[in-house]
Amino acid sequence: MSDERTFIMIKPDGVARGLISSILGRFEQRGFKLVAIKLAKPTDSLLKEHYSDLQTKPFFPSLLTYMTSGPVLATVWEGKDVVKQGRVILGATNPLASAPGTIRGDYALDVGRNVCHGSDSVESAKKEIDLWFKKEELIDYKSSLFSWIY
Ligand code: RTP
Repeated sequence: MSDERTFIMIKPDGVARGLISSILGRFEQRGFKLVAIKLAKPTDSLLKEHYSDLQTKPFFPSLLTYMTSGPVLATVWEGKDVVKQGRVILGATNPLASAPGTIRGDYALDVGRNVCHGSDSVESAKKEIDLWFKKEELIDYKSSLFSWIY
């Protein structure tokens, strides 16, 4: 299915370090379609919902401090197997385990400053897209470019 969607977020360190174009470029060049994008300053309550499964982890307070330290870039991408492929493009959660050529493997060293987030399943992608975007912010369009991708 080429209409699968995922939520990819560039975290505050990625925005502050000027990595937006490099990160977005990897998804564009692979052939995925950008369907939503916005710069946002997430609140604690939004992040508590986004990371609801991590609330009992010892690193949760520092995760909240990190994620509210500056703007993030929230995006939604569409394309064949994009949830799984998105995680591959990002690399392992801990950058020390990320392969070279992945975003984290190329740009990060510490799990607490790992530059980006990607949904880990189709189900969590749906939940995260609904949490971060209003329906009207998701743009449906077709492009003749896609006949070269599919
Ligand atoms: P993400 O949601 O950011 O894509 O990361 P993930 O699914 O690969 O990993 P998850 O376990 O959900 O962790 C979410 C974020 O919490 C921070 N973290 N810090 N030991 C630590 O200090 C630690 N472990 C996780 C990372 O920023 C991770 O991306």
